[in-house]
Amino acid sequence: MANNTIMLTLHYLDENQMVQVAPGQYHSLMSLIADQLAIPGFGLCCGMGSCGTCLVQITSAGSNLKNNVLACGILVNDELANKIVLIPDKIY
Ligand code: FES
Repeated sequence: MANNTIMLTLHYLDENQMVQVAPGQYHSLMSLIADQLAIPGFGLCCGMGSCGTCLVQITSAGSNLKNNVLACGILVNDELANKIVLIPDKIY
């Protein structure tokens, strides 16, 4: 049976917030973060990969690998399942 939800963790200001979303529920990882955390200044910029204000890191539990990504260009799909999204404390 297919699982129709995606579980992931948002890490911001030393706190983890687990979220469960449906594929396609959000236009992008940026809109998911903006909706779930309401970070001032986050997600209020270009939305098309040119300003860099949505820069986050994606990692997995127990992994030292952190991939820098622009959240506005990341689809919310199974590739994010069980990932940890590290959001910088300061948004530029
Ligand atoms: S919002 Fe500008 S690069 Fe993502």
